[in-house]
Amino acid sequence: MAQYDQIAKPYDELMGDTGDIPHTFLINPLMSSSLPKEKDLTVLDLGCGNGYWTKLLAKKYKKVVGIDNSQNLIKIAKNKRQLSNIEYKLVEIETDFPFANDSFDLIFSNMVIHYIKNLIKLTEELYRIIKPNGLIIFSFAHPIFESTKNQSLKSTKTRTPYKTSTLGGSAELTLQYEPLDLIIKKFLNSGFKLVQQKDAIIPADLAKKYPRYQDYIGLPRAAILIFKKN
Ligand SMILES: C[S@@+](CC[C@H](N)C(=O)[O-])C[C@H]1O[C@@H](n2cnc3c(N)ncnc32)[C@H](O)[C@@H]1O
Repeated sequence: MAQYDQIAKPYDELMGDTGDIPHTFLINPLMSSSLPKEKDLTVLDLGCGNGYWTKLLAKKYKKVVGIDNSQNLIKIAKNKRQLSNIEYKLVEIETDFPFANDSFDLIFSNMVIHYIKNLIKLTEELYRIIKPNGLIIFSFAHPIFESTKNQSLKSTKTRTPYKTSTLGGSAELTLQYEPLDLIIKKFLNSGFKLVQQKDAIIPADLAKKYPRYQDYIGLPRAAILIFKKN
């Protein structure tokens, strides 16, 4: 059973069609403003969850494939957020990449890669399936935020699993911690060129709406990275 299967229903209720408070007010504006303006693009939504971003992307672009390893979330996405230019697929991205070389113009991934154990394999597969000059835009849990929250991660220098309580349900999830420079290096080593890095910094007014962030004002909750295939 995939990690998110156990919390799929409450997670969908929390995220709805726009995301929860941190997604809506902090991460999504940075992701949206990074999206290319051309419309004629084939897009992969990697770790699509309940499909809310997949549907937003499908309204903007020619074709979107949403993949996730949670069969319960894929079922919810198909039932609630299907459009004629969306294809949802159950895919375990640690082991399986059922796409031909040069399949996508854009790979989008919101808050997913911190779950992936083998980031080297992932970056190599992403490089293989993205077209030349294609962009990958993704956000993930910022290592500074995670190591502030989980003091034991502070001096960690490798990709390391750790447990955290999660959104929309009571289950604990296992995430992977790694310093930011090592994450970037894995994409560069696969052949990608770094285009931009953005930090989603927690502002004081967000902490008023979302008290869980009160002790983290000024810290980056998520990192956004944009890479290009040369
Ligand atoms: C925090 S959620 C983000 C979902 C969606 N991108 C969003 O913005 O709402 C992380 C997602 O990554 C998926 N995921 C985690 N590990 C995965 C894996 N190894 N293969 C495929 N999907 C995975 C989870 O099932 C979950 O839907």
